[in-house]
Parts: sequence; C-alpha cells; structure tokens
Amino acid sequence: MALVAWEEQYSVGNDRIDQQHQRIVAMINTLGEAMETGTEKAALMKILSDLVGYTKTHFSEEESLMAQKSYPYLVEHREQHVALNRQLADYYRNFYLSSRPQTAEVMAFLQSWLFNHILEEDKRYAPFLQM
Ligand SMILES: [Fe+2]
Ligand SMILES: [Fe+2]
Repeated sequence: MALVAWEEQYSVGNDRIDQQHQRIVAMINTLGEAMETGTEKAALMKILSDLVGYTKTHFSEEESLMAQKSYPYLVEHREQHVALNRQLADYYRNFYLSSRPQTAEVMAFLQSWLFNHILEEDKRYAPFLQM
C-alpha cells in the first residue's frame, strides 16, 4: 500500500510539474516500501540517491518556471529548496556512513517536509503560472 497518495487537490495546475510531484511521491513510496521490507543498504542508497537527483532536477525546473512568470517569492522559495537539498544530502551521507541508517527519521522527514512543501509552498505559485 502506498504510504503517501497523490490527490487532485495537490495539483498546481501545470501538468509537467504535477507529473514531477507524482513521481517524487512514487519515489518516496518506493523508498518507504524498501525500508519496511529490510532491503539491503546498497539498494536503499540507490533509491535515495535517485530521489536526491530527481528532486534537484525538479527544483531547478520549478525555479526556472517561477522566474519566467516573475514569481515575487522566488528567492524565499529557492531558499527552501536549498535547505531541503542540504537535508537530503545529510541523510544520504548518514546512510553511507552508518551501519544502521536512520530510515524511520528519513521517511518521516520526506513525508512531512517534502509533502508540506508541495501542498503549501508550491501551491502558492500556482496562480502565477496561469498569468
Ligand atoms: Fe515542487
Ligand atoms: Fe518547490
């Protein structure tokens, strides 16, 4: 069962961005399932690394779109992306160095932080994409 489910209310009104968000949600679920089933560390690291990479790609695309639409809160939004990238990089390092990675903490972080970001911060730019 999916740990986090995508719902129409999360849409920012842009198909490309919505698809990227859906893919991020799917990747979080894949990671959660792998953690639950005791998947070996190397495989978990690969999933986490894919998530880190994809999130970066998504953030830069989102930022270009916001810049294109002259979104007035671009700077603040970008700061949140930077903070999120940094946190993900920390978790990735922890996974690499630890024999018992903080899997529960990583999942809690991804589910709350990333999802709140999509639901609140990303939704805030939605009206500007229609301009
Ligand atoms: Fe986003
Ligand atoms: Fe964002």
